[in-house]
Amino acid sequence: MSVRPWLPSPLPLPSLLLPLVTLLVASAALTRAISISHHSHGHRGPSAAAVLSSSTQSTRALERRAAFLSALRQLPALVTKDRPGTTVLEIPEPPVLPHEKEYMDAWVQSGFGGPDVIERREFLMPSPEPHQVLVKVKAAALNPVDIGRRTGFFKGFMNESFPFIPGYDFSGTVEGVGKDVSRWRTGMEVYGYPHEIGVRPQRYGTLGEYLVIDQSFIAAKPKSISHEEAASLPTAIMTSLQAFEMLHIKPGDAVLFTGGAGGVGTQAVQLLKHYCGAGYVATTGSGFKTQLLEELGASVVVDFLKQNFTDVLKDLDSAIDATGEWWECLQCVKEGGHVVTIRGGPGRPANVPFFTVQARGSDLEKVHDLYEKGIVRPVVDSVFPFDSLPLAFSRLETGRVTGKVIVRGPSL
Ligand SMILES: NC(=O)c1ccc[n+]([C@@H]2O[C@H](COP(=O)([O-])OP(=O)(O)OC[C@H]3O[C@@H](n4cnc5c(N)ncnc54)[C@H](OP(=O)(O)O)[C@@H]3O)[C@@H](O)[C@H]2O)c1
Ligand SMILES: *[C@@H]1O[C@H](CO)[C@@H](O)[C@H](O)[C@H]1NC(C)=O
Ligand SMILES: *[C@@H]1O[C@H](CO)[C@@H](O)[C@H](O)[C@H]1NC(C)=O
Repeated sequence: MSVRPWLPSPLPLPSLLLPLVTLLVASAALTRAISISHHSHGHRGPSAAAVLSSSTQSTRALERRAAFLSALRQLPALVTKDRPGTTVLEIPEPPVLPHEKEYMDAWVQSGFGGPDVIERREFLMPSPEPHQVLVKVKAAALNPVDIGRRTGFFKGFMNESFPFIPGYDFSGTVEGVGKDVSRWRTGMEVYGYPHEIGVRPQRYGTLGEYLVIDQSFIAAKPKSISHEEAASLPTAIMTSLQAFEMLHIKPGDAVLFTGGAGGVGTQAVQLLKHYCGAGYVATTGSGFKTQLLEELGASVVVDFLKQNFTDVLKDLDSAIDATGEWWECLQCVKEGGHVVTIRGGPGRPANVPFFTVQARGSDLEKVHDLYEKGIVRPVVDSVFPFDSLPLAFSRLETGRVTGKVIVRGPSL
C-alpha cells in the first residue's frame, strides 16, 4: 500500500476530527494568551495588582501555547493539505520557553522600612552564568534575617543595592544550566541557599518565580519530603552543621542549643542527636513547645518561663546560642568547653565567636539520608500562598514560630 508522503501513518478520517476540535479550542485560548502577555509587558510599575494576575495567567498561557503548537506540528496534513480551503490556523511566533521569558513574577524590596517596601511586581528574569543553575521556585522559607534586611537593621554590615528579591531558602526544579554545569539537569528537584554568605546577598533571592544559584549551593531534594518541607531546611541545616564543626562536637558529647523551637533549633536538636551522635542534648523552650522538643530527641528541655537554664545545666561540652544568651551559655559549659553564637550581640569575649552561615550544598548532602528515611524531620510552622507574603512576615515577626514559615512559589 502506498502512503502519501505528508501523512505519518494511514489514519482513518474520524480519528482526525477530535484533534481538530481540540486545536480549534486551543486556538481561541492562544489568541487570549497573546493579548494577555502583551498586556502584562506593557504595564510595569504602578498598577501592580493588574500586572500580577495577568502575569500568572501569561505563564499558563505560554505553556498552553507551547502544548498547542506541538500538537499542531504533529498534524501538518490536517491543516494544510488534507482539507484544502480550510485555513483554520495561522502559526504565530515560535513558543517562548519559560526561561526565555523577559520578566517574571516576584516580591521586590526597594528600600528599608515596613511591609510596604516589599512589593509584588514583574522583575527581570535572571539568566544563569556558566557555573549557575536556573531554578523555578516551588516553595521558599522566611528567616529572621529577612526582617532585619527589610527594616534596615543590618544595613551597617550588609551591602544592599536596591531593588532586590529577598529570601534565603528554597526548594524547586532545575529549568536550565550554565555551560560549566554538568551535575544538574533540567527537571531535577533541588533545594538550597543562594547567597554565598548571608551578609553578602545576591540580587536574586528566593521569593520570585525563578532564581539563579551557584551549582555548589544546591543539593538533590530528598524525595520523601515535599517542596514546602525541603524549603524549610537549607539555612537550618547549614547553620547547624557549621556550628557543630566550629565546636568540634564528638559522639557522646553533652550539648546545649538555646531557643530549640525556632527554625534553626528544631533541626539542630535532631541533628545533634542523629548526625553528631551527641549523648545529651539540652535545649530551652516554653509551653507546648517543650513536648515537641522532647519528641524531636532533646534529653532535657528547660522551660525558660519556669526556670533559669543556668540553674539546671552544668558541665556541658559545648553550647550554641541562638537567643543572645551566650553569657548564660558560658555558665553551663565545663572548663575547656566551647560556646558559639549565631545571634551575636555586643560585649562578647573572644571565646564566644559569632559566624554567619555559608552556602554549602555539601552540608545538605551529608544529611540527605536522615531526611529521606524520616529519621530527622522538617518542622513547618505555617504555609502561605505567594500573594500572602505580608501575612507570612507578620507571622515570623511574632517571634513565636515553631519551625519554619513557608511561602509557596507563584506558580502553585
Ligand atoms: N549567624 C547565622 O548565620 C544565623 C543563621 C540562622 C539564624 N540566625 C539567627 O539565629 C536566631 C534564631 O533563628 P531562627 O530562624 O531559629 O528564629 P525563629 O524561628 O524566629 O525562632 C523563634 C523561636 O525562638 C524561641 N525563642 C525566642 N526567644 C527564646 C528564648 N529566650 N529562649 C528560648 N526560646 C526562645 C521562640 O519560642 P517562644 O515562643 O517560646 O518564645 C520561637 O519558638 C535568630 O536571631 C537568627 O537571626 C543566625
Ligand atoms: C557594595 O556594592 C557595590 C555595588 O554592588 C560595590 O561597587 C561596592 O564595592 C560594594 N562595597 C563593599 C564594601 O562591598
Ligand atoms: C532567674 O534568674 C534571675 C536573675 O538571677 C532571678 O531574678 C529569677 O528569679 C530567676 N528565675 C527563676 C525562675 O529562678
